Order: sequence, then structure tokens, then C-alpha cells
Amino acid sequence: MPGAIHAEGLVKTFGDVKALDGVDLDVPEGTVLGLLGPNGAGKTTAVRVLTTLLRPDGGTAVVAGVDVLKNPNEVRRSIGLSGQFAAVDEYLTGRENLQMVGQLYQMGAREAKARASELLERFGLAEAADRTAKTYSGGMRRRLDLAAALVVSPPVMFMDEPTTGLDPRNRQALWEVIQELVAGGTTLLLTTQYLEEADHLAHDICVIDRGRVIARGTSDQLKARTGGERVEVVVHEREDIAAAEEVLRVLGKGEATVQEHTRKVTVPVVGGAKLLAEVIRELDTRGVEIDDIGLRRPTLDDVFISLTGHGAGNGAENGAGRGAGHGAGKGEAK
Ligand SMILES: Nc1ncnc2c1ncn2[C@@H]1O[C@H](COP(=O)(O)OP(=O)(O)O)[C@@H](O)[C@H]1O
Ligand SMILES: [Mg+2]
Repeated sequence: MPGAIHAEGLVKTFGDVKALDGVDLDVPEGTVLGLLGPNGAGKTTAVRVLTTLLRPDGGTAVVAGVDVLKNPNEVRRSIGLSGQFAAVDEYLTGRENLQMVGQLYQMGAREAKARASELLERFGLAEAADRTAKTYSGGMRRRLDLAAALVVSPPVMFMDEPTTGLDPRNRQALWEVIQELVAGGTTLLLTTQYLEEADHLAHDICVIDRGRVIARGTSDQLKARTGGERVEVVVHEREDIAAAEEVLRVLGKGEATVQEHTRKVTVPVVGGAKLLAEVIRELDTRGVEIDDIGLRRPTLDDVFISLTGHGAGNGAENGAGRGAGHGAGKGEAK
């Protein structure tokens, strides 16, 4: 059965640029798809096509069971889109804006009021709630837009880089609201440039680059392709390298790599922080003095390097300046 969002062979060209070059997507009902990719990958173009704002040159898409190209108006009734449909009225206060959205979507007045207060609080707008939106700073305005998109929970939602520009506290608040909506049955397509975010929110991840899907899978599957989590140890004395290597080989999952000149030993691990503590204890038992130790999680950049051989957001460059020796060679993809 096709998912709540289903697209096949989407193509969209702008002049010489193939913004979408044959994209297939499927998001089962009640799940979150993280559409992950660097700047210019085609994320916004995909969202605009799926939300009926842009006509593709080729391909088909069905959202909430309705054909996007044939019945765009009907699709619009079943979806929410952050920052777009939530048109904020400058002359209303933050609170009035949110209540209005609720009432527009047939919420009762009391419920709309309660939801507005809750969202204002969560996005740090409680104090500014009764000021007109035109007095808001850019950041506050952005949070109000997001809150407005979250007042009601349509069956299918799209959020295009919702956390870009949010501080950590507001990002956390947004993640929580999103998780609640999804727990309530909403299907969500979320675009992001951050693997960490897709990791946190998405059931499935689809990585796109230059209009093409270059990988799909769960966050764990993608991380496995990049070599997953690693523990890195920098020992104080060169002669302790061998001992550290042995500890990491025993506790890690796979080959330990040694970088002699920086006295750094790295190994892929499973079990994160717990394992880190074990490594520290074991090194301590053996009297190995360490300068630095850390758990390194793969980033979007690592995923990109392993999939494409180049880093995210800089198509032509090849990851120069990144620490060497992480063993995420391009040959590992697949
Ligand atoms: N309206 C447009 N006119 C011309 N080029 C566009 C337009 N929209 C997007 N593009 C180009 O299409 C590519 C994909 O853009 P976009 O979908 O915005 O990427 P993303 O959201 O992943 O950053 C980019 O090269 C961008 O410059
Ligand atoms: Mg974009």
C-alpha cells in the first residue's frame, strides 16, 4: 500500500539546474521521513512539489490518497506546511494569530486559546504574546510561524528545515511538539541538513544530493555505512599506543586505526557512552595516560563523504581540513 506521501520519478528543471532528477519517495502513514541533504540538494523543490506549490516537469505524487497534480485543492485541505500556509498577520498579536489559526481549522474557542498559550510558552513567546507580530524580531517571528503551523495537526505535514536558525532550547521545544503530533498519527516529511536531527525525529531517512536520492534507510543503517560511532583516544605517551590499540580492539567493533604522529587511536563502537566509560576504566587499569578521549558520532558530512566522496554543502571540495584517519573511506558505501 502506498504511504501517506508517495512520489515517483519527480523531475524539476530550472534552466540548466536539475533540482529534482527522478526522485522517488514513500512515507508510510504515521511515520516521519527525514529528507536529508546539503544546500541546493533539492529539498525545498521536493516539498514545494508535494505541497502543490510547484508543478514538476515529470513524475507523479500522491499525498493523503489524493493526486497532487490532478487535485491540488483537495491535497491542500489535508496538509500543513510550516512557514507557508501559516500566514502570520502582522497587525495581530502572537496570541491572536495562533488562536485565529485554531479557529480557522474549526477548533473550539477554548481549545484554540489553550493551544495558543501552550505553544507561546513552549517557543519562548509568552512574554511577547500580547504584542503585535510586527514588533517581533526575526527569530521571534520565525518561532511564531512554526507555532502557527503546529496549532492543528493535519493528517500530513511538511516542515522545510524547521530548526534552521533556532537556538538549542527552541529546537528542543520544536522536537517535542513534533513528536507529540506524530504520536497523534500525523505523517511528517521533514527536511534538514543535520543528521542528528533526522536521527532524533525520523523513522526513515532519505539522503538527496543534486536532485537524486543517494541513500535511504534508518539512521542506524546510514550510520553503519559511514562506519557508525567511533571512540577516539589520544594517548599521552607514544609507547602507550599499542596498549590503547589493544584495549580498543577488544572493546570496539572492528579494526582499530592508529595515527602515530598524533598518538590517536580510533575504533568503531556500538553502545556509545556506556562503552566510553568502559574504555576509560580499562585504560586506567593499564596505567595508560590519556590526553583526550571522545565519542564521535557520524555527521551528515561523514555520510556524504562515505556515499559520494565529497563533503556536504561543498560539492567540489573533498573534505580537506577534516581530521584524517577516521576510516570512513568512500569504498565502504553499499
Ligand atoms: N525558482 C528557482 N529558480 C531557479 N533555480 C532554482 C529555483 N528553485 C531552486 N532552484 C535551484 O534548484 C536547486 C535545488 O534547490 P532547492 O530545492 O532550494 O535546494 P535545498 O532546499 O535542498 O537547499 C538549487 O541549485 C537551486 O539553486
Ligand atoms: Mg531549502
